[in-house]
This record gives sequence, structure tokens and C-alpha cells, in this order.
Amino acid sequence: MSETASINLGEKTYELPVITGTENEKAIDISKLRDQTGYITIDSGFKNTGSTKSAITYLDGEQGILKYRGYPIEVLAEKCSFLEVAYLLIYGDLPSQAALDEFQRELSYHALLHEDMKKFYDGFPSKAHPMGQLCSLVSSLTAFSPESLNPNPTQDDINLTVLKLLAKMPTIVSWIHKGSLGEPFIYPQNRLDYVSNFMHMTFGQVTHEIDIDPVVVDAMNKLLILHADHEQNCSTSTVRIVGSSECNLYASISAGISALWGPLHGGANQAVIEMLEKIKDDGGDTDKWIAKAKDKNDNFRLMGFGHRVYKNFDPRAKIIKKACDDILAKLGINDPVLEIAKRLEEAALSDPYFVERKLYPNVDFYSGIIYRALGFPTDMFTVLFALGRLPGWIAQWKEMRENKEPIGRPRQVYVGAVDRDFVEMAKR
Ligand code: ACO
Repeated sequence: MSETASINLGEKTYELPVITGTENEKAIDISKLRDQTGYITIDSGFKNTGSTKSAITYLDGEQGILKYRGYPIEVLAEKCSFLEVAYLLIYGDLPSQAALDEFQRELSYHALLHEDMKKFYDGFPSKAHPMGQLCSLVSSLTAFSPESLNPNPTQDDINLTVLKLLAKMPTIVSWIHKGSLGEPFIYPQNRLDYVSNFMHMTFGQVTHEIDIDPVVVDAMNKLLILHADHEQNCSTSTVRIVGSSECNLYASISAGISALWGPLHGGANQAVIEMLEKIKDDGGDTDKWIAKAKDKNDNFRLMGFGHRVYKNFDPRAKIIKKACDDILAKLGINDPVLEIAKRLEEAALSDPYFVERKLYPNVDFYSGIIYRALGFPTDMFTVLFALGRLPGWIAQWKEMRENKEPIGRPRQVYVGAVDRDFVEMAKR
């Protein structure tokens, strides 16, 4: 007999179906609740609310498990390139060599930006935040890809839009970096793989060829893979909900980029480095800053700590911490903030405040230190997160459209004034 949940409202009892996922996670299906009972549920921040059934990413916050399409993140980060993982997320299976080569070829073909897009870059002040530029530039792609505007796109339209966006994103991101330095843009190189090409456009020079260190490319691949999807987080839910209005892919992703920007979400990687720098400049007394993070009268939070769903450890943080040690050693970099980060982590993990609240380092606690070692300025960190998250956002948007999900439209409980008498302006 299928499992149900009972709900008592007044004199009546209602039976609600229970849904079981493939990893045995349970949900009470309340989709007919209002029709049956007249009641809605309320769950600020959606802490207990599933918005969809998804076959893309599985996450167990208690056990610290993260899988993309059934593959553990540890295996993918160890054995795959970012492009293979992007293919896996978007199309559902790992590619054969031939499929991967074809995917790479298509992406190389679409990597150039329309020359008119350079005018947008010219319009930004040199100190414009890269995330603001990124969401504008991604949205502006609609102007150059009319096929993306069809609210009922064919499968071919969708495929083309997906390929164009994946192909152009590294060019957009690297040109934002070049623009901030006042350096000439570097054009994509078809002979290079996706990540090497991105590093070439970001750090290359028009005056001479640069060698792209395979250690750097490896590190970048790993970071992008670890950020590639994370089920229904704030930015991904934004992409799905915006897309549910049949809004085009570019605009939906642009909205996701805006959601990612905040320091409680993707913006945390920038905030972590700024925090570590501040602690270093303040003399490096980590106990003082731990005490500030615990003080409820102080707004300071330990950035890069805590997570809505991970309540044991963040598996991505484990991989990143090791990668951080490896990369800094391989590149021969001695970053004093790494020492502060390790001391903070050690102190927090043995402090009852953090232990009781199950607060652990998240993916962003160490990622900024790696980005910095690779040569990226702090305000580019969240843009790199967006570059990594792109395949996940695309996969989630595509799944939402393919499942023909209804427009996202939560309800509310109204708590405002009731029936006020209108008073003419002269008498107010
Ligand atoms: N430092 C100090 N205290 C914290 C922290 C922190 N980083 N995070 C949570 N807490 C405390 C809260 O004050 C609260 O304490 P209380 O119960 O005494 O009131 C308790 O822990 C629960 O915190 P909430 O904010 O309710 O947890 P929520 O799940 O809503 O928030 C979040 C999760 C936003 C990630 C939070 O932990 C935080 O602000 N962390 C710092 C920012 C950060 O690193 N964000 C990146 C997340 S990863 C990502 O998006 C890629």
C-alpha cells in the first residue's frame, strides 16, 4: 500500500500522498492541498519545501554526499574535465570521446562574440563590478540571437541557444577581466580546449604567446566542476522560476547570475578573502573574530561557514581544501591568509557555538585562495563561480521546460491592514 500522510483540520482528516525519490528521500505531496482543504502551507526561505522533481543532482546534507547524475562529485573532480561534466549535466550521460570532440568543436565554433558587443564593454566604467557586467552581457546575447526569443522554441532552437551560451560565456568573462585592466581583448583559439582557451583569453597577451601551465588548467577544471550544479539553491531556483514564465534562456541565466551575486550565496567567495585580509591587517587574532561571529549584537558572520543544507560537512570544501594545499605548493606560493583560514577553521570546528549549529566550512571558504593563486582579482571570484555553475543552470532550465512545469507562483498569508477608509489628500 502506498504511504500517505494524514492532516487534521478541524473535524476533518485528509490523506496526502507521499512521494519517494530514487535515493529514498520522502516528500508529502501538497499540490492538491488548497483545492481539498482551502489551506496553504507557509515555509519562509523554502527550508522544507521541494519545488520540483529533478534527475540532475542528488545531495544529502546530513551525510555530506553530492552526486551529479548519479556520479559522486569526488570521482568527477578527480577523473573528468569540466567540459565532460558540463555534457553530463546538460545531456544526462557522460560523453564518448567522439561526442566530447564534437561538443568541443561546436563550442569553439560559437566562442566569438559579435563585434558590436564590444560597445557594451566600452560603456562600463572601469571599476564596474564584474557581476553587474556579466548579467547585463549575458542578457544582451538575446539581441544577437533572435532564435532565443521564441517562447515555444524547437529542440534545435534550444540546442543552439545552449551551445552559444556555453561557448560565449568564457569569452564574456575573460573580456570583463581584460576590460577592468584596460588591456586589449584576446580572441578565442579553436585549437585549445574549453578551460585552456578561457585561461588564454584571460591571461594571454596580444604581444606574445603565453604558456598555459597545466597545473593551473587542472586547478581551474576542478574548481569549475565543484561549482557546476547544486540542486535547488537560490540562483538555480531563480533560473527555473524565471524560465517558468517561458522567458528565454539568456534572460533566465542572467537572473540566476544576479541571485548568485549576494554574499550569502556565490558572493561569499569574494567576502571570504576580504574577511581574511581584514583579519590579517587587524593583526591576525582569529579568536577575536570568532568571538565577533558569535556575538548576536555584532553583524559579523564567519564568511564561508555554514550552509542551508550541509549539516555535517560540505564534500566540495574537503576537495577544495586539499586542492588548495596542492596548488599553492605546486606554484610555490606562500599565502599568509591560508594560515589564517586554517586557524579560523580549526577554532570554529572545536567551538560549541559552531558545533551546535552544525556550521562547517562551505565550498567558498578555500576557493578564493585558489583563485587568487591563479592570478584572479577578488571581484572576479563570483564571476568564476557563475562560469562553473552555468552547465547546472542550463540543465535545470532545460529540465524545467522539458517537464512542462507550470509558472512558478508562490502564495502568501496576508498580514496587512483590512478595509481602511479612504481619506482625501486635503484631509490627511
Ligand atoms: N557565522 C556565524 N553564525 C552563523 C553563520 C556564520 N557564518 N551561519 C549561520 N550562523 C548562525 C546564525 O546566526 C543562526 O544562529 P541562531 O540559531 O543563534 O540564530 C544559526 O547559525 C542558523 O543560521 P541561519 O542563517 O538561520 O541558517 P541558514 O540556513 O538560513 O543560512 C547561510 C545559511 C546563509 C549559508 C549562513 O550559514 C551564512 O550566512 N553563511 C555565511 C555566508 C556564506 O558563506 N554563504 C555561502 C553559502 S555556500 C553557497 O551559497 C555557494
